[in-house]
Amino acid sequence: MSDQTQVTGVAERPVPQPGRDPLIVYRGVRKAFGRQVVYDGLELEVKRGESLCIIGPSGVGKSVLLKLLIGLLECDDGEIWFDGQRVTDMHHDEQFLPIRRRVAMVFQGAALFDSLTVYENVAYPLREQFRLPESEIKDRVAQKLAWVGLPGIEHKKPSELSGGMKKRVGLARSIATDPEVILYDEPTTGLDPVNIQRINQLILSLSERLKCTSLIVTHEMATVFAVAQRIAFVYDKKVAAIGTPDAMKNSYNPVVRGFIAGDPSTFGD
Ligand SMILES: Nc1ncnc2c1ncn2[C@@H]1O[C@H](COP(=O)(O)OP(=O)(O)O)[C@@H](O)[C@H]1O
Ligand SMILES: [Mg+2]
Repeated sequence: MSDQTQVTGVAERPVPQPGRDPLIVYRGVRKAFGRQVVYDGLELEVKRGESLCIIGPSGVGKSVLLKLLIGLLECDDGEIWFDGQRVTDMHHDEQFLPIRRRVAMVFQGAALFDSLTVYENVAYPLREQFRLPESEIKDRVAQKLAWVGLPGIEHKKPSELSGGMKKRVGLARSIATDPEVILYDEPTTGLDPVNIQRINQLILSLSERLKCTSLIVTHEMATVFAVAQRIAFVYDKKVAAIGTPDAMKNSYNPVVRGFIAGDPSTFGD
C-alpha cells in the first residue's frame, strides 16, 4: 500500500464493528455557546449493554452531552459515532430519525400531555414512529405500564397522578418503542427517597428486560451506586475521570473523590 492512501483524512478511519467496538464514541468533541466553552477535547466510549452514570457539577455540560448524541445540539468540532454511523455528519432532523428510533431520552421532568390519558401518552411514540394495529399498541402500552409498576391505569389523566407516578408513566412512554439505548437526564430529581429507590430499581430492571445500553445523568449518589457499572465524571470541559464505582470511590483525584463523597468544598466556588 502506498503512503498516498493514508493521507486521505477521515476516509481511512476504522468503522466500529458490532459486538466488539463501543456502541457510542465521542472523540475530540468541542462545543461552545458563544464564548462559553462547554467541551473541549471530550473523549468518551460507551460499551454495548453497559449502564454508565454521568456525574459532575451543575452546569458542567451533562445534558449537553446527551443532546449532542441525538442531534438536539450540534458539536463544533470532533466526532460522535453511534453504532458505526458518524452522527457528526448528520445535520437534518430526518437524518437523525433512525438514531432517535433506537435511542430513548427520559427528560428532566416527565412532561406528559395533560389533556391526554395515560394510554394515549404511552401510545404516542408508537403512533408517531410505527404503523401498528391498535391491538398491538394496546398490548405494548399495558406491558410498559406493568413494567413501571402501574398496571391498569390507562384511563387515568396525568392530573390524577402523583409526581412519582408521572415520572414512571413518562418512563413507560420513553420505552414504548423498545429502545436499544436509554438516556436518562436526572431521572430522580425532586423525588423522595422511596421514589428514588423505585426509579433505581426500574433502571436496573429495564436494562435487563430490554438488554439496552443506559446513560444516566444524575447527581444522586444513591442512584449512581445502585445502577452504575461505570461512572464518568465530567469536569473542566471533558470527561475528567471514568471507571468502575469502586475505582472512582478510591480515585487519587481529590476532585473526583470529593464529588462522590458529596464534599462541596472541592469546587471552590
Ligand atoms: N441551548 C443552549 N444555549 C446556550 N447555552 C446553553 C444551551 N444549552 C446549555 N447551555 C449552557 O451550557 C452549559 C452546560 O449546560 P448543561 O449541559 O445543561 O449542564 P448540566 O451539567 O447541569 O446538565 C450551561 O452553562 C448552560 O447554560
Ligand atoms: Mg442537566
